Amino acid sequence: MMIDKLANPLTLVKLQQLLLDVGVVNVLLAVAATTLAVLAVDYGRMLYLRARMPPGPWPWPIVGNTYSLPATKPWLYFEELSQYYEVPLITFWIGRNPTVWINDAWCAHEILEKKAQIYASRPRMVVFGELGTGQTNLVTMRVRNNAERENWRVHRKLMHLGVGVQAVRRYRDVQNNESKVVALDFLREPAAYVKHLERYATSVVSVLAFGRRVAHFDDPIITEVIAVMQHAAELNVPGKSFPMLMETFPVLAKFPRWMPWMKGIGSRGQKGGNYFFHSLAQEAVDQQAAKSDLEKVGVPQPFADTLFKESPKYNLSTEELSSLTGNLFGAGSDTSSSTLITFVLACCAFPEAMHTAQAELDRVVGRQRSPDWDDMDKLPYVAALFKEVLRWRSVAIIGGQPHSPTQDDYYKGYYIPEGTWVQGNIWAIHHHAREFPEPDRFLPERYIKGSAYHRPFPGDRGYMTFGWGRRVCSGQALAEQGVWITIARLLWAFSINKAIDAHGKPVEVDIFAFTNGLNMRPQPFQCSILPRTDEIRDTLEREAQQALIDLKPLDGESKYRMSTFYQQQKSTFAAEPIIDEHGNVKIVNVKK
Ligand SMILES: *[C@@H]1O[C@H](CO)[C@@H](O)[C@H](O)[C@H]1NC(C)=O
Ligand SMILES: *[C@@H]1O[C@H](CO)[C@@H](O)[C@H](O)[C@H]1NC(C)=O
Repeated sequence: MMIDKLANPLTLVKLQQLLLDVGVVNVLLAVAATTLAVLAVDYGRMLYLRARMPPGPWPWPIVGNTYSLPATKPWLYFEELSQYYEVPLITFWIGRNPTVWINDAWCAHEILEKKAQIYASRPRMVVFGELGTGQTNLVTMRVRNNAERENWRVHRKLMHLGVGVQAVRRYRDVQNNESKVVALDFLREPAAYVKHLERYATSVVSVLAFGRRVAHFDDPIITEVIAVMQHAAELNVPGKSFPMLMETFPVLAKFPRWMPWMKGIGSRGQKGGNYFFHSLAQEAVDQQAAKSDLEKVGVPQPFADTLFKESPKYNLSTEELSSLTGNLFGAGSDTSSSTLITFVLACCAFPEAMHTAQAELDRVVGRQRSPDWDDMDKLPYVAALFKEVLRWRSVAIIGGQPHSPTQDDYYKGYYIPEGTWVQGNIWAIHHHAREFPEPDRFLPERYIKGSAYHRPFPGDRGYMTFGWGRRVCSGQALAEQGVWITIARLLWAFSINKAIDAHGKPVEVDIFAFTNGLNMRPQPFQCSILPRTDEIRDTLEREAQQALIDLKPLDGESKYRMSTFYQQQKSTFAAEPIIDEHGNVKIVNVKK
């Protein structure tokens, strides 16, 4: 009977179960409906913005356009999109976040230079901002209010003391002497040209920051810093793999550092208050204090010294002091050496340009001495070649970190909301056929007024390699003068050509084979580097021996090694996950 059945306890349990099930289903339905509603509203917001912002591919809910990012070199894809939509700037959705890519010099100039005041900030960046150095580093700092602006100004002011246009003139002698040493290194061991250029660039920033040169190319400071920088540059490329996928799904950044997708990003906040570059700076200050007055003659004061004297006024944290000195290394070593490697590649691939420059050097400088700063204005073709190196294959290929407006803005009717991620695509800007016909040809004539290849370009430099406005690279002046003197001297000294294989045939070089990071450099290639004449070789040897003597007071050593620094510090502090030199995370038990 019905009643009997209902009275049956077993049936009752079943009924209860059924009601409960319905309840769960209802709850699930309600959750699903709410989720859908939220999604719909959010997607509506995306589509509304899409209609007003610069054009670009159709975004999907939540994931935006992230899925269509290429595995490498997204700047090529953004250049294509800009051509496809026939606009200088496009919108590309990284998840729910619209990013604007500027692919045209005039547009970049209009927005990032002329409106520098409102484009001085950074957008919300998950990986390099919130998980990275954030508000403690000039590079990643956002400037959204007066307090942030004040702090940013302090950092810029301190940076200027080290590498401002006036300050870097002090380092001309050191760069000159070091580039003489590079020439000697090229003479003695041409096959290791990459390492010599890395040593040169690292040594210059080391003298500047710590008053100590780097004499040998196997010094771990070089390999470690350059490896770290290249690693960071590879991580930093917008992509659909971790960690950059966290820009698409920012919620993932809320998890602990040892989660698998955090692999490879530094260990900020786990350093027990100890920072590698701060320790190096402190060491340099102590070493400087121990020097006699005689030892300090003719040697510029290290930036670490200036910084430690000035910074107490501003109450900077250890982390901030560390970032101020670390930036010099990070931004100065890998970039300058990569630019010079690009120069060597250009000589191999486009010998006519090299020959024209050498004819000019022979005329102006001769062979009894190598070029010097005083020759700068008399060498217009060398100057043009130098500019073409910076243009042809720029290191910071997407113009470094993104800019972001601090208020809503419009460009030619396109809406750019406050806080938007705005990135200058240097690759596209420097490859626009309107400004640079046959853009992949290495052609210094572009920079000679009156030449058939010369075209108007906004700004007086003719390139945008160092970024824009108030976020322009702080080290620009230092880099430009260092790259100029090295290029001039190497052109004067050497015939740089394609290598010859066992069959007497030239080994071709690939002018498109560059690394994938956003600081790019040529993939390794062979070349032949020979002194142009015996007389030049003798001059070069004589000058370099003198330079080595002159540089002697800058010899010195550090007791710190980047690869072991944090582990050593940690063993005295706490048991924590550590990140080893390969970027792998391990949990280690260390005694307190
Ligand atoms: C470098 O070379 C110049 C000569 O060009 C010299 O006057 C100067 O003292 C040298 N020393 C250093 C540390 O650069
Ligand atoms: C410096 O920082 C300390 C502690 O963080 C604080 O008490 C002090 O007021 C600050 N001084 C200035 C000048 O900002």
